[in-house]
Amino acid sequence: MSIHECKLIKLPKISDPRGNLTFIEGQNHIPFDIQRVYYLYDVPGGAERGGHAHKALQQLIIAISGSFDIHLDDGKERKTIHLNRGYDGLLVPNMIWREIDNFSSAAVCLVMASERYDEADYYRDYDEFVRATQQKNLSV
Ligand code: TYD
Repeated sequence: MSIHECKLIKLPKISDPRGNLTFIEGQNHIPFDIQRVYYLYDVPGGAERGGHAHKALQQLIIAISGSFDIHLDDGKERKTIHLNRGYDGLLVPNMIWREIDNFSSAAVCLVMASERYDEADYYRDYDEFVRATQQKNLSV
């Protein structure tokens, strides 16, 4: 997997004087069925979240409120995406190491996930993750 597969998806935005509305349909706006939703909130200044990769799980990450930075790493290349709009979703495929930091005050990070929570799907050790990406590259 490559960080170039991490794509910013412009979600539908219904503008209205009463406020904007954005919606997301699994298999329509994002290429998977949504099995789980979770969100990070009340994040203290200077805190860092993430720090892991997933073996199979895909995610769409949205700054529903406020802003934050997502650092993406495929074991070879890295890039950082700043999210700050409720209609921008960052698609993060499996086998991408991510770290999230620089949370603004009152930031809320909403995550749509393609699988239910399963600790066995995580790489939480960076060196182990990099070794796994190298083994996968050898086997193709
Ligand atoms: P973790 O995935 O490390 O959080 P983040 O990536 O957002 O920094 O999860 C933190 C804790 O919450 C960990 O003990 C696992 C638990 N957890 C669940 O029980 N269910 C979930 O859906 C998620 C995302 C985490």
